[in-house]
Amino acid sequence: MRALALDSFLDVHVDSRLPPGRRLPAPVESAAYFAVGELLANAAKHSGAREVRILLEHALDTLLRITVADDGHGGADPAAGTGLRGVRRRLGTFDGILALDSPRGGPTTATLEIPCVLSSPKTSSC
Ligand SMILES: Nc1ncnc2c1ncn2[C@@H]1O[C@H](COP(=O)(O)OP(=O)(O)OP(=O)(O)O)[C@@H](O)[C@H]1O
Ligand SMILES: [Mg+2]
Repeated sequence: MRALALDSFLDVHVDSRLPPGRRLPAPVESAAYFAVGELLANAAKHSGAREVRILLEHALDTLLRITVADDGHGGADPAAGTGLRGVRRRLGTFDGILALDSPRGGPTTATLEIPCVLSSPKTSSC
């Protein structure tokens, strides 16, 4: 995700609060990467934003939560394209969700949550 951030022409900040030394299940990692890629592409194409803030955290010991917030003009609408619906479909296979808060005038915050357990350094639980 830091590489995606560097590739964007927007000013993208990534704040990972995931516990160091532990891993997400690989399918969850790739779904999250795909989702953030689409959200960053949307911010670049549609939002008029200057800055994007990405926060990753493992909440309640049971779910990965990622927020992607841009300071653009809002108006994200899953009915208007295929990208956001594709993200929802893919997250849905993990019982995950994508919530959008994107009023006209902005800003836009996308929150995705995927239930998952982190592996410890010694065991792999997922
Ligand atoms: N961050 C954003 N800020 C403002 N508008 C957005 C944002 N993200 C999406 N939108 C709006 O929501 C629409 C739907 O986005 P979606 O990603 O589903 O489709 P798309 O980007 O237009 O096309 P694609 O199918 O290639 O992803 C966009 O066309 C755009 O109008
Ligand atoms: Mg899109």
